[in-house]
Amino acid sequence: MSGRHEAADERGHGATQQAEHGSGDERRPEARPRDGGAARGGVRLADVHKVFGAGDAEVRALDGVDLELAPGSFTVVLGPSGSGKTTLLNVVGGIEQTTSGTVVVAGEEISGRSPVDLAGFRREHVGFVFQFFNLVPTLTARENVEIIVELTGIGDPGRVPELMAQVGLADRSEHFPAQLSGGQQQRVAIARALATDPDVLLADEPTGALDLTTGRQILALLLDLNRAGRTVVVVTHNVSVAQIADTVVTVVDGRVQSVERNDEPASAEAVSW
Ligand SMILES: Nc1ncnc2c1ncn2[C@@H]1O[C@H](COP(=O)(O)OP(=O)(O)OP(=O)(O)O)[C@@H](O)[C@H]1O
Ligand SMILES: [Mg+2]
Repeated sequence: MSGRHEAADERGHGATQQAEHGSGDERRPEARPRDGGAARGGVRLADVHKVFGAGDAEVRALDGVDLELAPGSFTVVLGPSGSGKTTLLNVVGGIEQTTSGTVVVAGEEISGRSPVDLAGFRREHVGFVFQFFNLVPTLTARENVEIIVELTGIGDPGRVPELMAQVGLADRSEHFPAQLSGGQQQRVAIARALATDPDVLLADEPTGALDLTTGRQILALLLDLNRAGRTVVVVTHNVSVAQIADTVVTVVDGRVQSVERNDEPASAEAVSW
């Protein structure tokens, strides 16, 4: 079984179309208007394998993945538990080294790079958002963002208040994570991911720990950040989230089963769970 372009099942989200992109991947007119910044980022994977363990314990988490995501696209990755979604995200973000294959992100080939080189790539190009926020509990919201600017040496500490305002937390900057709601903590995590102004924003189940209303707010924020030109990839179990994406990738058994294009992506309010 193979073929990322195999017939994709309709998921009941309107104008989804089966992908027909070839190697050139000429994008159709953008599904969502930009609000300023040029499209940046972009992802290309060719025959990517990621094998964990060896012998009887061997797991082929990615088993020949070919995938192309246009700069400035908003992708949702769906698939059953254990299908390789997180591994895919971690390979794109330079957290995991590949076993073989080619990975190009934001114009940089990162396959075959050492962990130290990958760290440099991440600092410069990638922001991560996780399901459980991963904030430092002993730092305030503002300090959780500032520390990234300090640690990476990228970004401007003077911009941190602006970032806090951008995620709607100007009045919560001095609160500690335990004093914030889940949605507010996730906003801090997004501000932290934005501190280095990344080309690519990767989110692994960003709404997995949130109620519907809060989850929609977080998705709306991610859409805003995409409209500013960033490439955004969201991994989720929630099929309903796919309707906000312009590109929907389904992963099964470490392989891309389908890539669908959505010419009329919905707003975050349309999502439900
Ligand atoms: N560090 C690791 N060592 C060994 N096996 C791993 C490791 N990370 C992931 N795997 C295995 O690789 C496969 C894919 O895992 P992955 O975490 O990418 O799945 P997933 O689609 O994100 O699942 P979920 O929806 O449950 O988060 C699984 O079989 C998993 O057990
Ligand atoms: Mg996962």
